[in-house]
Amino acid sequence: MLKFSSMTGNEIRNKFLTYFERNGHKIVASSPLLPANDPTLLFTNAGMNQFKDVFLGNEKRDYKRAVTSQKCIRAGGKHNDLDEVGKTARHHTFFEMLGNFSFGDYFKEDAIKYAWEFLVDELKLEKSRLWFSVFEGDDEVGPDEEARDLWIKVGASPDRVLGFGRKVNFWQMGDTGPCGPCSEVHYYMGDDPLDPQKNRAEFVNGPGDTTMEIWNLVFMQYNRTQNEDGTFALTPLPAPSVDTGMGLERIAAVMQNVKTNYETDLIKPIVEYTASLAKVK
Ligand code: GLY
Repeated sequence: MLKFSSMTGNEIRNKFLTYFERNGHKIVASSPLLPANDPTLLFTNAGMNQFKDVFLGNEKRDYKRAVTSQKCIRAGGKHNDLDEVGKTARHHTFFEMLGNFSFGDYFKEDAIKYAWEFLVDELKLEKSRLWFSVFEGDDEVGPDEEARDLWIKVGASPDRVLGFGRKVNFWQMGDTGPCGPCSEVHYYMGDDPLDPQKNRAEFVNGPGDTTMEIWNLVFMQYNRTQNEDGTFALTPLPAPSVDTGMGLERIAAVMQNVKTNYETDLIKPIVEYTASLAKVK
């Protein structure tokens, strides 16, 4: 039995925006789905897109912390969910991404503290259902032991913090642009989270939808650029920054205790209305 009261998608979005506003973030409107000035992207694929030049140090804003609920489409390019639609309970190419951002202000410690506090104290998720992933390092960038230690410091059990490679735990917007190691929060949606036979580590980034990623915290430290010979280079950003992304429909599925995003109040009415137009169930 899940132990929290159900919240609508609108209530969750509002709670996220106001929580971060209380913590010094400016609420910024979602940018359009077609990026205004970025030939590297066909569609907006993450909350950080509208802040790309701020991360790169090419643009200054009158705030150093922002929070958004960004409309995104992932249907091609580096982040492509198209092939997953119909196969999983959690991909639908168009979605809203809740994100908090720091432009050279706070970094890993506060990003992790805010994420824990929002999930555990504000949304009141059961700790026993939470898992965390950190970058285990490779030839280019070392392991993120700091993120592991910080999750444990805020209250995660050490056996719930797992290391993964570049595919999962190093985030970049596209082939070029701001990037860095990232750390994800995963949530077990099955019965009996205290049963180690059911709530298992191999389901984190593993098969099925019972344990799913709900939030990604990117520690923006680098810019990836392409050299004239076609190779890529990594250079440090002017200031380490934070970019996070939580799928609104995923956290709504968690809070509403339904098994797929399609059953949340954010999507179900659209499916029902379409079905009524088509006169099918
Ligand atoms: N920019 C963070 C994410 O898309 O996961």
